[in-house]
Amino acid sequence: MFIKSSTSSTLLLALALVLAISTTTRANDPDILTDFITPNTSSIDASFFTYSGLSAFFNPNPKNFRVIKASMAEFPALNGQSVSYAVLQFPQAAVNPPHTHPRAAELLIVIFGTLEVGFIDTKNVLFNQTLQEGDMFVFPKGLVHFQYNRNHNQAAIAVSAFGSANAGLLSVPKSVFTTGIDDNILAKSFKTDVPTVQKIELGLKN
Ligand SMILES: *[C@@H]1O[C@H](CO)[C@@H](O)[C@H](O)[C@H]1NC(C)=O
Ligand SMILES: *[C@@H]1O[C@H](CO)[C@@H](O)[C@H](O)[C@H]1NC(C)=O
Repeated sequence: MFIKSSTSSTLLLALALVLAISTTTRANDPDILTDFITPNTSSIDASFFTYSGLSAFFNPNPKNFRVIKASMAEFPALNGQSVSYAVLQFPQAAVNPPHTHPRAAELLIVIFGTLEVGFIDTKNVLFNQTLQEGDMFVFPKGLVHFQYNRNHNQAAIAVSAFGSANAGLLSVPKSVFTTGIDDNILAKSFKTDVPTVQKIELGLKN
């Protein structure tokens, strides 16, 4: 078949665009070609789709900030289903430091106490809110966010749903200050001196 070169280059360009779009929108769990994914070929029953690891999550007196996850690692049936949960327990005045989940948006609901939450968009605009019991807040996919229990008299408990079986976690303080990036690079990046960087690093080790 005869195709004029201008037509074929237009076709190539269109193909390249389609490929570019399909690769850039691939920041979600892949679709699966089976109803569900099992770790082996032996027969399974309803217990494979059941997880009780969060049954004791309601603790009105947590000692430390704690995240209890029900993701693919803890609950293998989630593999391929693009969903997971986490329970967050905040003692009085506890913070969940700025972090991101590279593969999922997070939909948080406060079930006990109050929580101050916020995220920062790619224009460095802060969106923060104080949530009461029953309030929900969505942290858009991949954006840096935090939660803080400003209440010094009462714990807070929240449940978060994720649009990925393995949302991933990247803690800003840990990834920047505990991974061995050269102190001089950090000092320059934060427009400060090496002793200040080392002080932060030491604090994060404890
Ligand atoms: C197959 O997977 C099921 C469900 O996780 C598990 O209970 C069983 O022990 C596994 N069997 C083998 C042979 O790995
Ligand atoms: C948002 O954060 C600012 C400080 O940056 C604080 O003064 C304000 O009270 C917060 N708003 C809510 C609703 O928590």
